[in-house]
Amino acid sequence: MFTIVLHLLCVTLCLQLQQGLSGPQCLEHPPNLNGTSGAGSVIKVGGLKAYVTGPPRSKVAIILASDVFGYEAPNLRKIADKVASTAGFHVVVPDFFYGEPYNPNNTQRNMTVWLKDHGTDKGFEDAKRVIASLRNKGVSRIGAAGFCWGGKVVSELAKGYYTKAAVLLHPSRVTLDDIKAVKTPISILVAQFDNGTPPALMKQFQEVLTTNKVDNFVKIFPGVSHGWAVRYAEDNATAVKSANEAHQDMLNWFTKYVQKR
Ligand SMILES: *[C@@H]1O[C@H](CO)[C@@H](O)[C@H](O)[C@H]1NC(C)=O
Ligand SMILES: *[C@@H]1O[C@H](CO)[C@@H](O)[C@H](O)[C@H]1NC(C)=O
Ligand SMILES: *[C@@H]1O[C@H](CO)[C@@H](O)[C@H](O)[C@H]1NC(C)=O
Ligand SMILES: *[C@@H]1O[C@H](CO)[C@@H](O)[C@H](O)[C@H]1NC(C)=O
Repeated sequence: MFTIVLHLLCVTLCLQLQQGLSGPQCLEHPPNLNGTSGAGSVIKVGGLKAYVTGPPRSKVAIILASDVFGYEAPNLRKIADKVASTAGFHVVVPDFFYGEPYNPNNTQRNMTVWLKDHGTDKGFEDAKRVIASLRNKGVSRIGAAGFCWGGKVVSELAKGYYTKAAVLLHPSRVTLDDIKAVKTPISILVAQFDNGTPPALMKQFQEVLTTNKVDNFVKIFPGVSHGWAVRYAEDNATAVKSANEAHQDMLNWFTKYVQKR
């Protein structure tokens, strides 16, 4: 009985997400949002609430754009803390959803409805306000990384000269046309098992970037599924190892292109 219910739930999600995010994989392993984790604090940046961590007066900053579960996700905050403590970046994780992360339990606010209020276009506009605010405070070099929903936001940033470098981790809805317009050095990290952004599409992304002479690093992580870099289970050593590897690749990209050498 339970299995049937789960199966129905999955089918429903598949239908809901066909036009939205990349598939039910986007919603696997939802985080426990209690807003209490992390070594940093929550302040306002560019009019948005944001989790900030790392040296506040650093001239180099990284923006992390969340998946649909938002800026309170404990794993995301841990990643932010890691980026801050390892490389001395000031890290900003904005609340792009204004206090309303996607809640799979809320059937009234299903993905279709929720995305109408929380589209990636709006996220892009908000990200630009966060960047402007950081620049006003004297930050001179900025990088941005996006997970799933946030990957699309960061791909929009990468089309302009908003940041020095971009990292997309299992991005959703990023198209070949998006990638054709990218100007910023970009790293794209994807799972072997990703219905929305499969390895074959990655190969095309890489070809286009190389043809356009955009510095790029594209990597397919074996044995993992969409979402692995942020929604990994803490008690699964294999999953943690692969997620850590993705975080390290992200850090390497930021160290190379954002950190003042
Ligand atoms: C989502 O919710 C709206 C309003 O509650 C409803 O009209 C729509 O059919 C739902 N969509 C799906 C795919 O369930
Ligand atoms: C919040 O969640 C984190 C990670 O799941 C957990 O370690 C912590 O104990 C939780 N805090 C509260 C107050 O529930
Ligand atoms: C959704 O429901 C499950 C099962 O009742 C619960 O464990 C989980 O915390 C709920 N999630 C949210 C975001 O409310
Ligand atoms: C641990 O994570 C790996 C990689 O995501 C996955 O293939 C495996 O099924 C997971 N193991 C368990 C027990 O969930």
